[in-house]
Amino acid sequence: MSKKVLLLPGDGIGPEIVAQAVKVLDVLKSNHGLDIEMTEGLVGGAGYDAAGHPLPEATMQAAKEADAILLGAVGGYKWEALDISVRPEKGLLGLRSGLQLFANLRPAFLYPQLADASTLKPEVVSGLDILIVRELTGGIYFGQPRGIRTLDSGERQGYNTYVYSESEIKRIGHVAFQAAMKRNKKVCSVDKANVLEVTELWREVMTGLAKEYPEVELSHMYVDNAAMQLVRNPKQFDVVVTGNMFGDILSDEASMLTGSIGMLPSASLDANNKGMYEPSHGSAPDIAGKNLANPLATILSAAMMLRYSLGREDLALKVESAVSEVLDQGLRTGDIYSEGMTKVSTSEMGQAVVNVLAK
Ligand code: IPM
Ligand code: MG
Repeated sequence: MSKKVLLLPGDGIGPEIVAQAVKVLDVLKSNHGLDIEMTEGLVGGAGYDAAGHPLPEATMQAAKEADAILLGAVGGYKWEALDISVRPEKGLLGLRSGLQLFANLRPAFLYPQLADASTLKPEVVSGLDILIVRELTGGIYFGQPRGIRTLDSGERQGYNTYVYSESEIKRIGHVAFQAAMKRNKKVCSVDKANVLEVTELWREVMTGLAKEYPEVELSHMYVDNAAMQLVRNPKQFDVVVTGNMFGDILSDEASMLTGSIGMLPSASLDANNKGMYEPSHGSAPDIAGKNLANPLATILSAAMMLRYSLGREDLALKVESAVSEVLDQGLRTGDIYSEGMTKVSTSEMGQAVVNVLAK
């Protein structure tokens, strides 16, 4: 039976990059027996404009029915003044929590062809291959109570709650340890256990879990040190597991080690490998609609979708090697351009990947 893929292009560069991933999926349908049905929905600012909400009811319904979701990006200047409850980002957060997509996998992998595109020295980053496992449906992003209140003094006070229960820590921990078993068998758990009780518990639970994975070496690191170590000696990391907010920050940092955030895919999975797939970057409103954005992170996100939710590891590998091949051909969008290479547009880059797969 064909699997259902929901496309949510979203805002900014979202539509143009998702269009390239769709071209790739289409060629896999016609040449490589990929059996999927694609439908499209509205999310983010696009959802707000059309239906008054960043996550329209129809989109949530379609997302529940889908086997996998491919999302572009949400947000933009146009919606920045809206109340926080209907900002485009709420569409994304609503999908994550509504579908219980608690495990966010963000690989930071350096394509050898791009070693020069990183702002770090090539010897520091060459061979880099880190997997950040970020908890995505808990922590301070979702903790209650939250809000802005007025104190008796008349002064306003903003507050959020950083909370994790043992079961939430365990389930993301298992994802990290299991991923490490398929990689270099190292997990670094990142916390702020010297200050925050919630992460003292995080550390304790991770330490307990490690006993179930005797082959995996577990280390712990405070988040400030982890931020430093990522730029000092990033190759010391294999799998990094951390909470929602620390993972948000560290994954942006890790992405720059690879040259450009325009190269990094991500997967957000539930307990049954249903997933939402999106590039790690944002909606880049400054270059939206100009055919300048790098579509490779979205194409690589489609590859992760093939692997985790559509049961087609074979096609995931094909797409990943096609991406490598277009880099070998010297094709570069602006964000990864260096002298001597051929500068291409969003659609040319997408077409180049399609051409490799159509061969
Ligand atoms: C991300 C983004 C989101 C987050 C925003 C857009 C809500 O930065 O996916 O990393 O903070 O999780
Ligand atoms: Mg982020």
